[in-house]
Formats: sequence, C-alpha cells, structure tokens
Amino acid sequence: MAFTEKECMACRKDFPALERTVHGLPLAYLDGPGGTQVPRQVIDAIAGYYRTCNSNTHGAFVTSEESDAAIQRAREAMAAFLGAPSWREISFGANMTTLNFALSHALSRAMQPGEEVVVTQLDHEANRGPWLGLRERGLVVREVTLRPDGTLDEEDMVRQVTPKTRVVALGYASNALGTVNDLPLARRLSKAVGAWLVVDAVHYAPHFPLDVVELDVDFLLCSAYKFYGPHVGILYSRPELLDCLKTDRLSTQDDAAPFRIETGTLNHAALAGVTAAVEYAAGFGTGPGLREKILSAKRGVAAWERQVALHYFEEVRRIPGVTVWGPDFSSLHRAPTVSITIDGVTPADAAKHLAPRGLAVWDGHFYAARAIEVLGLADKGGVLRTGISMYNTKQEVDRLLSGISELTKA
Ligand SMILES: Cc1ncc(COP(=O)(O)O)c(C=O)c1O
Repeated sequence: MAFTEKECMACRKDFPALERTVHGLPLAYLDGPGGTQVPRQVIDAIAGYYRTCNSNTHGAFVTSEESDAAIQRAREAMAAFLGAPSWREISFGANMTTLNFALSHALSRAMQPGEEVVVTQLDHEANRGPWLGLRERGLVVREVTLRPDGTLDEEDMVRQVTPKTRVVALGYASNALGTVNDLPLARRLSKAVGAWLVVDAVHYAPHFPLDVVELDVDFLLCSAYKFYGPHVGILYSRPELLDCLKTDRLSTQDDAAPFRIETGTLNHAALAGVTAAVEYAAGFGTGPGLREKILSAKRGVAAWERQVALHYFEEVRRIPGVTVWGPDFSSLHRAPTVSITIDGVTPADAAKHLAPRGLAVWDGHFYAARAIEVLGLADKGGVLRTGISMYNTKQEVDRLLSGISELTKA
C-alpha cells in the first residue's frame, strides 16, 4: 500500500512524543536507529495490561490466564512479522544483546576448541562481543573485512568461512552506515560447511519486510524498540533447533522451544506493546491476514523512508566540507540511515549545535565501534548519524540541512 507524505503526516498524529518542542521548535526525531518513538496504540496496550490484567503466568485465575494469552499473542504477532512458521520459533528477552549472549553460550556448548566463528567488522558489538567472548573457550573467531566504501568484502567472506566454521554471525543492515549485507551469500557459504547462520536484523527490521523461511536463517534477532514498540528483544530459531541446544536455564523452567532460552519472568506489559506495535505497522497495509498486511505496509513505508533519506543524502553531500560515509543509494536495498563527518567540526560538537535547534541526531560509533575504527574515524569522534523513520518528513530534513550548513559556514 502506498505510504506518501499524506500518510506520513497522518501517522505523526499517533505519536504523542512528536508534540514535544525544544525552544519553541518541534523536536525532530532523526535518531530512529537508536530507538523509534512509540504510537498511542502501543502506549495504551502497555498501560492497559497494567490496568486490567497485571499478573504472573500459569495461574488458575482470570488475570493470569489473560497474561498467558497476551504473551501468546505477542509470539503469534512476531511470527507473522518475521514470516516464521509458528509462535514456537519466537523467544523473548530483555533486549537483543542479552538474547545473543544466551544464544552464543548455548551454541558454544555444541562446539569444540579450535572450531571457528565468523563475525564482521561492520557489525554492532551486540553481534560481535558474544562471539568474541568464546575465544576464552578455545574457539577461533575470524573477521570479515569492511571495505572503505562501507560494504563488506565478499571475497574475504568466502575466505573466512572454512570447513572449521560452526557459526557465521552477520548483521543484515548496518546501524552505522545503512549498508545491507549479502545475506544469501552468507547463507550459501555457511550452509556449504554446515555452520549455523545467526543474523542481527535489529537495524533491518524497522525498514524492510523480513521472511526468515525465505532467508533460510538458523537464528535471527531483532528489537521491538527499533520498530515503534517497547524495549523487548526477539529471537527467531529455526524449528526444532532450539530444542537441541544446552541453554542456561533453571531446572524448573519449561525446557521446550521457545521457552528454553527465556530466563525468569518476561516483561508482560511490554509484550502487550509488541503485539500492538506489529498491529500498528500492519495498519498501513492491505491483505487478507496480518502477515500480508505487514508485508504490504513495509513495502510502502520503505519507499517513503528511502525518499526522505535520499533527499538528505543528495543535499548533504553538496554542502562543502561534508563527507558521507557508507554506500550511496544506487541499490534499492539500502537502509535509510546516513552518516557524515564535517571538516573541522567533531560529530559531538555538531550534535550539540543541532540539539537546541530541535534536531535529535546521534554522534559517535553507536556500538558499531569496529567499523568506525576500520574507517579511521575512532579518534575523530566517529560520525554524525541521521536515521529516517516512518514519521520523518522532508521538512525536518531541511531543518537539519540548515543546521549543518551553519556549522560549515562558522
Ligand atoms: C544493529 C544493532 N544490533 C544490535 C543492537 C542491540 O540491540 P539491543 O539494544 O536490543 O540489545 C542494536 C542497538 O542499537 C543495533 O542497532
């Protein structure tokens, strides 16, 4: 379904946070890659849970039964969002990082010293740290090289995946540069050597439709607070795979998937919010079921976000002294996230200049620290990142461009 300026302006009314002003100026949230704002529908679902059915699970009484049902709905909603065969493949956790640590511990118990894990220089630390930590257990971690243009070196990926590889851990889209990685290649290579493919889709999920079956991934992680929901991490595991893993868990815990990797009490209210976030997204699409609506909505929103991001990309690179990092927009498969540096101005100073002008943008490495280091930007304060979300407009981008122009004239 088409998502144009009209739909964008209409959706803005759903987000109470967009009413905030800074020094009389509307606050422009161009920080979506760090976390998106939340629509009223999600806020109401979370508050509604606390108002009417706050309880622990598996009890005989009504609020406990309703809590069980709310959690089940969240699993079903996320299965539809990701194209998973069923809710049994959907586990929840505090955030993506926590789930990935739990996953890396579990997978490492099925590996022998000397076996290998492949990570990339482009990834967020959340999909590097949990694997790098396995070196303590005698596993070898190999790293795919990042090229200066912000894309992964595919020939190097071919070299790094060897018959000893047991895991390939790869981001789908870069939260620092907007690059979309060649997942089919990673799948082909990992499958050829019998390795598991673990995909960090945290930055991809807010922008593009996902289909875990078509992608043929073993594990895929994302985070609801990046797609207009609350702070909840989500793990998809290929059917029957999680059941075989030795996870960290209590003896009293349900040992079947998807519960097997979930420890302690989940955030029930937030899970009610996850369902609402998926339904909110689906509301911008058409089709007979939730899945079809999500796919249709995502295609429309992706086209809008690309238009706004492309406007920023085209204009910002014309400003003298500005360098844009990462791939251009020649590929349709590129996230609407653009990072720049400005000659003579640190990214932190740029962000501080823009903040009182009602412009929320991030500076630094955003935990994609290795990528920023490899690009030679670590001691320069990283980059200034602008992320486009469904509620962002070209007018907001124009305000940002004026703010950046002021800096280059100073
Ligand atoms: C690409 C990417 N991966 C992983 C993470 C970590 O997600 P979480 O905060 O849910 O642990 C982030 C968070 O910014 C991210 O952008």
